[in-house]
Amino acid sequence: MRIYEDPYLLQQQALAWRQAGEEIGLVPTMGALHAGHESLVTRARRENARVVVSIFVNPLQFGPDEDFARYPRPFDQDAGRLTALQVDALFHPSVDQLFPRSFKSAVDPGPLGDRLEGQARPGHFRGVLTAVLKLFELAQPKRAYFGQKDIQQLLLVRQLGRDFALPVHVVACPTVREPDGLALSSRNVYLTAEQRQHAPVIFAALRAAEAAFRRGERDAERLEQLARDRMAAAPGLAVEYVACFDEIGLQRPARAAAGNILATAVKLGSTRLIDNVVLGAGSD
Ligand code: PAF
Repeated sequence: MRIYEDPYLLQQQALAWRQAGEEIGLVPTMGALHAGHESLVTRARRENARVVVSIFVNPLQFGPDEDFARYPRPFDQDAGRLTALQVDALFHPSVDQLFPRSFKSAVDPGPLGDRLEGQARPGHFRGVLTAVLKLFELAQPKRAYFGQKDIQQLLLVRQLGRDFALPVHVVACPTVREPDGLALSSRNVYLTAEQRQHAPVIFAALRAAEAAFRRGERDAERLEQLARDRMAAAPGLAVEYVACFDEIGLQRPARAAAGNILATAVKLGSTRLIDNVVLGAGSD
């Protein structure tokens, strides 16, 4: 595995691979890799001649009071995992290399970027899409791999691809969970032992609402309330939102339908976690 810090060296290599007819799979990450990331890399390895993984903690997508400074950065450990997964190129630029002072543009995610996560984290998706577009240009991927856990990010990256006719297939990969159901996240390390003990209620609540959907409940607000009630019992857990929405407009449907998403964001102490299920997919 070769490590690239200079964006233009990575781009030259990617263009050379493309010219040689080799398809590139890109897995964009912020590092602190876990089994969820590994599942994306493993899939990319299976489907592409070349695999590029980026590790870049993107300052543009963090609010001023968020965890940019303390976000975990175990680079050597991450690089070891990626070597074992037979990644061809690890892209690890500094902030100045990816976004130098001269960098002035930004991707406006449009109205969908202001809903849900975007409402709680103003400017977040503008930062995400700006970084993702630049990563696409540098790594020249045929396919890019994103986790279903960050569902709104996944949908907005898909929209970016459609809107700008990007020649990239955005591949959605299932959420990887701990045995007790907690979705893997680089932020789980922030949880105290007690918070960690209560965290599985997040998925249990979504799953209970999804089961109600499969038993015939079609009132989206009632599904949301069911999940909220289930989480209310967990000490120290504050629900930011539970939202049922369609994949296109991110709007609450008049009647919930298979394929709609039920998503939540909660806070356990100062740690913010998100998760979601797809209605009708069956998650138990
Ligand atoms: O999901 C992430 O890790 C980040 O949002 C991404 C896609 C790497 C963009 O910075």
